[in-house]
Amino acid sequence: MTVQQAQERLEQLKAVITDSNRRYYVENAPVLSDYEYDQLMYELQAIEAEFPELVTEDSPSRRVGSDLSDKKGNKEFEQFPHRYPMLSLGNTYSLSEIKDFAARASKALGGETFTYSCELKFDGTAICLTYRNGRLLRALTRGDGSIGDDVTRNVRRIANIPEQLKGDGWPEEFEIRGEIYMPYSAFDRLNEEKRKEEETPFANPRNAASGSLKLTDPEEVGRRGLECTLYHLLGENLPFSTHSEALDKAASWGLPVSEHRRICRNIEEIEAYISHWDAQRKFLPFATDGIVIKVNQLNMQRSLGYTAKSPRWAVAYKFKAEQALTPLLSIDYQVGRTGAVTPVANLEPVQLSGTVVKRATLHNPDQMGLLDIHEGDWVYVEKGGEIIPKIVAVELSKRLPGAIKPVFPTHCPVCGTPLVKDEGQAKYFCPNKDHCPPQIKGTLVNFLSRKAMNVFAGEANIEQLYNMGFVRNVADLYDLTENQLLHLEGWKHRMAERFLESLRESVRTTPFERVLFAIGIRFVGEQTAKTLARHFRSIDALKEASREQLLEVEDVGEVIADSILQWFSDASNYEIIERLRKVGLHLAIEQQEGPSSAVLAGKVIVISGTYSISRDEMKALIEQHGGKISSSVSAKTSWLLAGEKAGPEKLKKAESLGIPLLSEELLRAMLATEIPDRNDGNIIPDPAGAPDDNTETQEGIQLTLF
Ligand code: IVH
Repeated sequence: MTVQQAQERLEQLKAVITDSNRRYYVENAPVLSDYEYDQLMYELQAIEAEFPELVTEDSPSRRVGSDLSDKKGNKEFEQFPHRYPMLSLGNTYSLSEIKDFAARASKALGGETFTYSCELKFDGTAICLTYRNGRLLRALTRGDGSIGDDVTRNVRRIANIPEQLKGDGWPEEFEIRGEIYMPYSAFDRLNEEKRKEEETPFANPRNAASGSLKLTDPEEVGRRGLECTLYHLLGENLPFSTHSEALDKAASWGLPVSEHRRICRNIEEIEAYISHWDAQRKFLPFATDGIVIKVNQLNMQRSLGYTAKSPRWAVAYKFKAEQALTPLLSIDYQVGRTGAVTPVANLEPVQLSGTVVKRATLHNPDQMGLLDIHEGDWVYVEKGGEIIPKIVAVELSKRLPGAIKPVFPTHCPVCGTPLVKDEGQAKYFCPNKDHCPPQIKGTLVNFLSRKAMNVFAGEANIEQLYNMGFVRNVADLYDLTENQLLHLEGWKHRMAERFLESLRESVRTTPFERVLFAIGIRFVGEQTAKTLARHFRSIDALKEASREQLLEVEDVGEVIADSILQWFSDASNYEIIERLRKVGLHLAIEQQEGPSSAVLAGKVIVISGTYSISRDEMKALIEQHGGKISSSVSAKTSWLLAGEKAGPEKLKKAESLGIPLLSEELLRAMLATEIPDRNDGNIIPDPAGAPDDNTETQEGIQLTLF
């Protein structure tokens, strides 16, 4: 490799790793599996070792990835410097490198006798807790290793982190570091809820843990079922001689410390510990991604010291993601809502990390080429960072002679239209969006979904409506008659009536921004639809917008702008819009919307518990009427909106500060009532003040107060 080649490859690797760090630590949506990431990092380190003159300070090999929420000054969390830098660990997938680590440590320690503390490597997000005089003072995330986000309020909601230590003998002030993780049971429950709410589920428990720790509503954090394990105690003049003694003491003060730690005396014992957990980890109720091996004697740790990024006294052995080998039965080419064609492998069912895998994605034709997959091959499947398993390799020794390569279709496998490929994209698309069945069905499903028109219908119902030929586009839905619905298998009068009423309700209640999201312009997601609706205020203005005008809108880039222009250039789309207009859908922000009234102007409302609508919808509703949402109860709080299972701590705090409680019914009644604005803006009786003379507007409604 020449210096120039090395320089070029380094730039590539740095860009990919830095981007992957952001997606992993900040967005909690990893693009690479840990293994892929580590391989890139090893390559970077190898090139840097060969060409030390090319190493720069900003190289990801010298810095830990940053989880800081925002570096542009708009911080969601206060940030504080770490007293001791929060480093990472050197890691390897090879046992022989663990032997090298042990040999290096032994040599550096001049052959003195020492032991190792072997521990599970918990797969979560790092946390640093400070205890002063036995009380939890502060919790910081790792951040960039030098400064971290202050997540103390959230950490106080994690059940196994004590606010007050028990026993005695703790140092006046110390730090203890560990991992916040989400056990599988909580993870499954959370993703189930997300699916019900039609939100994107978390890809794995690690992302769920770090995403949850960075929520701005501590009460919601409390509901997520996070747990903590602590594995590194730091401070000045600590009265311990070994790491294991420090952790045992921490456990006696009530701090959560893993019970799976073992002291190993030599490499054989380390290997036995590794192979035990490699086999047993699938029975643990939480995710682990390896084993951490630490020199146990603290004075020896000190003499081994640190590199720029990690301690020399510890190393991580990482488990390879579990793989399974199974025959490929066939390949389906699936057409999605956007028309993208994805090759999906049908496999002989096989057990993998606790579930049976029958299908795995092959991503796109480029990936199929890279794998060099042939019909009848035996393939290795793995669960990577994503939810859907993927094929990572082919077992060539099992390939049958004369096996043929699958041919990626040139035409849509459903409607037969020639496929197209955008420049620079690996995916093929079916351009026949108006007549290709999966695309139409996908658009209908999206249109009726909870986050769009919120109509009571499942995917199977939409399939029936489509198959019977009753709907071909979203406007057709509003022409459906009860008579037609009664022709569908399993539909009775009540169900048909409920569906039609739900459609009518969607016309009345869905604001423009959600209609804009519902119609399914490619790349216009929920948030973009909101921004566009607020910017242009009507579908007509949006239709007239030039490319330049679209690009002026926050978060609208060229891809979105072009997609909007293309959508409106299609006459059939405009026809649909005209039909929806006739039905009465909100195609503009009306006076009523944003804020629809000033009923809650000047009010600071804390929400707690669950409501008949999602918490996000509740927040939007309050804001629409001029109210402000705050996440914690304080003297400035006007009301605590107490839903079902409202947090006991919030209720207690409200009671102690004399903050009135508001029920969802009362709030709704307030918003539904046209009340003339009074001088002080108050529209419900002030609990502390004189009886309100406007009480007739509150007729029949009980305000629950402590
Ligand atoms: S010790 C100086 N012990 O793995 C670093 N880390 O990939 C001391 N981790 O940054 C860390 N389980 O977030 C240690 N038993 C354990 C661990 C552990 C998980 C995490 C930690 C660390 C990362 C390195």
